[in-house]
Amino acid sequence: MTRRTMSWPDRVRAFIGSCLSEPLYRLFSLVPHWEIGLGQHEVTQITQTYGPLAGRRAVHLSDLHLDRYQPRHDLIVEAVDELSPDWIFITGDLLNVPEGLPHLFRFLARLRELAPVFITLGNHDHYSGVPVSQYADLSDRHKITLLVNQTIVIPAGVGELAITGVDDPSLHRADLTCLPPPANRRFTLLLAHAPSILDQLEENHAVDLILCGHSHGGQWQVPWIPTFWLPPGCNGRIAGTHETSRHRLYINRGLGWSFLPFRYRCRPEIAVIDWTNEQAEVKAA
Ligand SMILES: [Fe+2]
Repeated sequence: MTRRTMSWPDRVRAFIGSCLSEPLYRLFSLVPHWEIGLGQHEVTQITQTYGPLAGRRAVHLSDLHLDRYQPRHDLIVEAVDELSPDWIFITGDLLNVPEGLPHLFRFLARLRELAPVFITLGNHDHYSGVPVSQYADLSDRHKITLLVNQTIVIPAGVGELAITGVDDPSLHRADLTCLPPPANRRFTLLLAHAPSILDQLEENHAVDLILCGHSHGGQWQVPWIPTFWLPPGCNGRIAGTHETSRHRLYINRGLGWSFLPFRYRCRPEIAVIDWTNEQAEVKAA
């Protein structure tokens, strides 16, 4: 299966989301100091066993929703710098409104000074009305790699890293025909905004790790109350690692907010992926 047609209920939900998100972001961007629960991020460690890439490290960010550069973005850059990654991956929802572009690329340019940056698009990037061609032009100008249903293969260690970035699965724009074939000593990483990509993959898709976001970890985690907000495209998955018999998915809680500028008991997240020779499990750093 490659690209899927969007159902009418999903189209209606996407339409409602796009109608609500822009006015709310414009409203709250007038009072940026109203942000609550976004100032302190958490660093999460993911260990990936794969000998040919042993010793390599990546940082995964998601859901920036960056319409206004804030002091907290400096703290994120400093934290990424301290982690000394070989690569930086960002899985969509880069901004909400076109006016955010200079703020977004100021942040991306600072990250690019630290390591190569690979980005893909999420639903809010499309809701913003910014055409894909404009994201591509600005990415080129800032030496950032935008992957929209595309793959790039780079040498790494004694092997190679294939990085596939698909367009947003929650809007049914992901096209998995861009996945590369398996190869000796090749680790294939799939960047996708929404966790529903896991349900789109088939057994024969040679993908070693999938990184995504979109859920914001539920954004508000009230004690004794189950997660009550998850956008379409999560398929019930909230955060952390999810596995099938063939594939492993990591959901990053992201760095920004949707609809209301606060998080509750759900800190923004920076994920670190370390490739090693030894078996290990996901653990909080
Ligand atoms: Fe998001």
